[in-house]
Amino acid sequence: MATIIDGKKVSAEVKEKVRLKTAELLKKRVKPGLAVIIVGDDPASRVYVNNKKKACEAVGFLSREYALAATTTQQELLDLVSQLNNDKEINGILCQLPLPNGLDEKAVIEAISPLKDVDAFHAVNVGKIMIGDYDFLPCTPAGVIEMLHSYNITVEGKNCVVIGRSNIVGKPMAMLLLHENGTVTVTHSRTKNLKEVTAQADILVAAIGKAKFVTADMVKDGAVVIDVGMNRDENGKLCGDVDFENVKEKCSAITPVPGGVGPMTIAMLMKNTLKACKIQNNC
Ligand code: GUN
Repeated sequence: MATIIDGKKVSAEVKEKVRLKTAELLKKRVKPGLAVIIVGDDPASRVYVNNKKKACEAVGFLSREYALAATTTQQELLDLVSQLNNDKEINGILCQLPLPNGLDEKAVIEAISPLKDVDAFHAVNVGKIMIGDYDFLPCTPAGVIEMLHSYNITVEGKNCVVIGRSNIVGKPMAMLLLHENGTVTVTHSRTKNLKEVTAQADILVAAIGKAKFVTADMVKDGAVVIDVGMNRDENGKLCGDVDFENVKEKCSAITPVPGGVGPMTIAMLMKNTLKACKIQNNC
């Protein structure tokens, strides 16, 4: 029977450390501040943003939300980012993605000051991660690494297979596994014989965005399976990219959905915001 990796528990531990460090900063009259921009009315984005706000309040941060109409222009959005770049109370800026059609995500990401880019999506931060000299790590891949550490799962020398090559998860995930001295393969929609590749994985990370895509026959006996997916199944129930019920019988450890990687993303966002605040205040 596989170990079920409890993302809620690890997330709570990370947030508690952030809360204690924030309490120290507050004594010095320094309060970390996060601004979250949400454009339009995507229901999933609304849930994510609400959870981010709640987490900020729980650790003692200033939390500001900018909820903009779907009709917002690119210039209005860029003006807001510019205003927040210059706002002393705000240490981290996050623009919830995806943006409504017609808005240029890349331009918005590049407009955020790299010092306040707590998502670590800006080209400067992506480049820093590539060379291993970074201040911020992207929240979801960093959360996966934190979970592995928390469960004493070593990456060094292991065959790591990432399914998916997005800028938000797949590519940075591969880089962080490489930093941990894993032997990393990135697979994607054009990969040939996917099943043969994934069946070699000691650590398999699924970040495809397709419900229950990873089936038991794709998984090696005793593998560690990390599910980054957040989908709805045929009955409208939340599920990941992994066929959890069948895969859990075969692997040694697995993250559930919900309650796995999701809560870690928010915890790592809190960690990044605290770090941004410390850097900006030289403390
Ligand atoms: N949309 C889905 N995941 C993320 C994330 O980590 N950051 C932002 N800004 N948007 C997202």
